[in-house]
Amino acid sequence: MRRRGPGLRVCGSREGNGTQREPESGKNGESSHGGTPYRPDDAAARGSSKIEGMPDDFMPLEGWDHLELWVGNAKQAAYFYEQAFGFTPVAYAGPETGVRDRASYVLEQGEIRLVITSGLRADSEVARFAYAHGDGVKDVALRVPSAQEAYRQAVQRGAVGVVEPHWVEDELGRVELAAIGTYGENLHTFVNRSAYEGVYLPGYVSTLGNGAVREGVGLRAVDHVVGNVELGRMNRWVEYYEQTMGFTEMIHFSDEDIATEYSALMSKVMTGGKGKIKFPINEPAEGRRKSQIEEYLDYFGGPGVQHVAMQTEDIIATVDALRERGIRFLDTPDTYYEDAEQRVGEISEDWAAIRRLKILADRDDDGYLLQIFTKTAQDRPTLFFEVIERHGSLGFGHGNFKALFEAIEREQALRGNL
Ligand SMILES: [Fe+2]
Repeated sequence: MRRRGPGLRVCGSREGNGTQREPESGKNGESSHGGTPYRPDDAAARGSSKIEGMPDDFMPLEGWDHLELWVGNAKQAAYFYEQAFGFTPVAYAGPETGVRDRASYVLEQGEIRLVITSGLRADSEVARFAYAHGDGVKDVALRVPSAQEAYRQAVQRGAVGVVEPHWVEDELGRVELAAIGTYGENLHTFVNRSAYEGVYLPGYVSTLGNGAVREGVGLRAVDHVVGNVELGRMNRWVEYYEQTMGFTEMIHFSDEDIATEYSALMSKVMTGGKGKIKFPINEPAEGRRKSQIEEYLDYFGGPGVQHVAMQTEDIIATVDALRERGIRFLDTPDTYYEDAEQRVGEISEDWAAIRRLKILADRDDDGYLLQIFTKTAQDRPTLFFEVIERHGSLGFGHGNFKALFEAIEREQALRGNL
């Protein structure tokens, strides 16, 4: 594992075999602030360190806006996320609101916003996506002060422009949207909702009966969103996030860090928005048997979002509530707990409860974290969820990787895919 210091944007310190990729266009474009044009080679030549948030932070991300899932049957999937995961339905758009080709259900819990969409006819792009990939994440949308500026900055550095900046409005105000492409068929929509009072977007109707968002199961915020990409493609997407959105590499896990007896993977964690946004990117590595990443790529039909991690401040209560509602988690063998207490040291939680719920624990220099992973959320062995509680640790549960991947392999073997 190689870790980069938090908060520092280190220029010109690229390591490994990744080659600096020139932005595909706009290399000499002027910044809108009238500053000097962006040239990656200049930054490399200076070899200096810069603090994020200084004027050259060309992509000021404010946080996660929403995750949109494209699914086969949004009405039933939304019910699953409401009943099993404890989300509150807050808005809807579909034929009843004048949308002809799709239906979308917006659900919230804490700061997490999910949009669950399905197509209404076979020729819908949403229906085609769901047919090709199964239910999955289509869009990881990010909140920005200006969608036009975020789009312009990203595209001039080589990002794929998918939806040009535009405003949508109704009597509650207006929202500015634009979108760029990323791995697979996925998008990052930039959302500027600073001038909007409505519950989600113009065109959606509120479904909040008495205006109250329910308590839920204690899920508070999105922590990170992980992408799986093909063998040999991880560094290309690492560079894409570096160059088009100014992300930096936070941690790098090699195939030796993440290996079991049977399979291996490599992962780099990209971070932006001053640490608010974290995108680990995985690729498969050579192993004796089929890696979980290869299984994902086979069934999803290409790259896509592997898991979404959601934070809680009380993982024991959250996992108890999720189990009560029928969510099934990956199992952890009792042997894991034989040395876990010694490895992780003192924690505020009760080890008996941690062991009973099969929660994993890990510690690093900054503190500790508790985490657990659900089984996949649909029949295809693709998207799943993580529940995480952080106590200082900025890591991803490195000490749990072996136990986790052995648990995933037991599931793969049950599916006949190991
Ligand atoms: Fe994770």
